[in-house]
Amino acid sequence: MKALVLSGGAGTRLRPITHTSAKQLVPVANKPVLFYGLEAIAAAGITEVGIVVGETAAEIEEAVGDGSKFGLEVTYIPQERPLGLAHAVLIARDFLADDDFVMYLGDNFVVGGINSLVDAFRVSRPDAQILLTHVPDPRSFGVAELDPAGQVIGLEEKPEHPKSDLALVGVYLFTPAIHEAVRAIRPSWRGELEITHALQHLIDSRADVRSTVIEGYWKDTGNVGDMLEVNRTVLESMERRIDGEVDDRSETVGRIVVEEGARIVNSRIVGPVAIGSGTVISDSYVGPYTSVAENCRITDSELEFSIVLRDSSIDGVGRIESSLIGRHVEVTPAAGVPSAHRLVLGDHSKVQIRS
Ligand code: G1P
Repeated sequence: MKALVLSGGAGTRLRPITHTSAKQLVPVANKPVLFYGLEAIAAAGITEVGIVVGETAAEIEEAVGDGSKFGLEVTYIPQERPLGLAHAVLIARDFLADDDFVMYLGDNFVVGGINSLVDAFRVSRPDAQILLTHVPDPRSFGVAELDPAGQVIGLEEKPEHPKSDLALVGVYLFTPAIHEAVRAIRPSWRGELEITHALQHLIDSRADVRSTVIEGYWKDTGNVGDMLEVNRTVLESMERRIDGEVDDRSETVGRIVVEEGARIVNSRIVGPVAIGSGTVISDSYVGPYTSVAENCRITDSELEFSIVLRDSSIDGVGRIESSLIGRHVEVTPAAGVPSAHRLVLGDHSKVQIRS
């Protein structure tokens, strides 16, 4: 069995974070979301992985390398434009050969991995197996309709009037039967060859398409609240590990990871919290469900239920909560008069100022 991991696409939904970086590299608990997928694939006993890359190929290749750090052998498959998930299967035909494969969308996060699914698929080998999950607003997903027996009878891509609240999760298990289906379909209204349509084609040809409903799923729908929640879930399951320095004037409570090269100075850290290497927290409080990535400076401030990406600094600004702060960001007090907020914000930024 092989894996096909999709890591192209533009990532419009998590702007401004994804203006400058691949959506699959958005970190959850200080680790790119894509790495959790690759680890889940390795844990399921799969080693041959094709990664389909687009515009952000260089960044993905730099992060993943040859895959050996995950115990994987990675082949990169360039996709000249984001022409759809079924198009990715089409261009990966030589890599996939006639093997069964799991297709994994690199911006999807499945809590608990895919071991049992892959094991069950290996034994029963239906033509295709999809994962579904209940979501509050299915309109930004593929949506499945099931009959009373739980059999998939129809799939629609981003329907305006969804027939259920069961969204297609971006993990699919396929036998080579999918290759004929991806060749048979035509581009959708958004100009993409949709995997949803290929699956519908299989259903219409009476192929055996099965589904499993899962819990614990996240993708970048652009909702910062969801991202903070997935960060929280992952932080909650971490083990305490302090490899960096904590001085005697500091207090650390609960599940905390302080990476090597990080320093905590005269501060109080209440877990679950992850602090990346090279980051210095001084004269500050960092509270539950917060991830601060590498090389940040948090000085004379309070931070809780937030994500700070690398190379950013927060200095003397009081308390920040429920926030997502990008890379190379500076947050400082506005000194002098007039007393005013002074902002330099990138496109698609969102700021809520305490009034
Ligand atoms: C794709 C699929 C959609 C699925 C989603 C899961 O959408 O087309 O059916 O529900 O991934 O991540 P996209 O994110 O490419 O718009």
